[in-house]
Amino acid sequence: MKPAVKRIGVFTSGGDAPGMNAAVRAVVRTALHHGIECIGIRRGYHGLISGDFVKLDFESVSDTSRRGGTMLYSARSKEFMTEDGLDKAVATCKMLGLDALVGIGGDGTFRGLLTLANKGISVIGIPGTIDNDIACSTYTIGYDTASNTALESIDRLRDTMKSHERCSVVEVMGHRAGHLAMSVGISCGATVVLTPENELDYDRDVVEPIRRARLAGRTHFMVIVAEGVPGGAYDVAQKIKEALALDTRVTILGHVQRGGSPTARDRMVATYMGHAAVHLLAEGKTCRVVAMKGDDVVDYDITEALNMTKGLEKYGLEVLSDMTGI
Ligand code: F6P
Repeated sequence: MKPAVKRIGVFTSGGDAPGMNAAVRAVVRTALHHGIECIGIRRGYHGLISGDFVKLDFESVSDTSRRGGTMLYSARSKEFMTEDGLDKAVATCKMLGLDALVGIGGDGTFRGLLTLANKGISVIGIPGTIDNDIACSTYTIGYDTASNTALESIDRLRDTMKSHERCSVVEVMGHRAGHLAMSVGISCGATVVLTPENELDYDRDVVEPIRRARLAGRTHFMVIVAEGVPGGAYDVAQKIKEALALDTRVTILGHVQRGGSPTARDRMVATYMGHAAVHLLAEGKTCRVVAMKGDDVVDYDITEALNMTKGLEKYGLEVLSDMTGI
């Protein structure tokens, strides 16, 4: 079957995530396999406005899947939000002869794609963010690597916290969501996990679990705080000091969580999603977000995807409560 598009652009936007390169590679290789040309737009929407592009061929994406970051660079563009910026972006698409765009990023990236679709450009979104906060997808590229990176640091922290019988308060990323905190908290065996989705009651959620663990014989404590929790790790640590007089240390893991070589899971999901995105375009589809539903690759209309909501995984919450409840 003759593909519905001849030349497509691919870009990464927003916070980078390990696995984005694998997604770009999959887009390029799948496109070439179907006789579609592929252009890389560098620096996200910023590059789309300024015409910052690179031709991508088979070899240019070779040996990129195992690398962290994004070979296409990333940015957040305020100019794209303006009419003038949008017009310039559309002009670049015309100048490059692009029939379609594949954008890899989060909700902000998808909203941008929607505005381009309204100007007549075919678009497909791929969820790439360490936060796993894309409502339509059970999984986002980068989440597994970031969880493992955070976990490795927390395991190290635990060694020293145990030696000194301290309480460690670790802040993990996640933007306004607590998915990363929850996965990391369950995996590291935290005493307390605080997420923005759950309204915080200090006595019930922090003091009590630590007190119970102390009575059960524990002499060091691991408290995981999602960055979206009001006050963040420093506030939580201060309250713990005041209420329990524990020797407390704060660690903000920060951007280290966004780096590193992607795990097998992130490379796999990214490759599947990149492949699916090109297939949708080749079939003449537009305005879709590729997503995971369990182990299946599915796709949704972008507007529908943006209107969906996603809470913390229910079974995970139950497990967490049993693990920390004593
Ligand atoms: O969305 C990914 C993310 O790393 C969030 O977890 C975090 O809140 C934000 O990006 C940080 O953004 P920046 O790189 O602009 O500091």
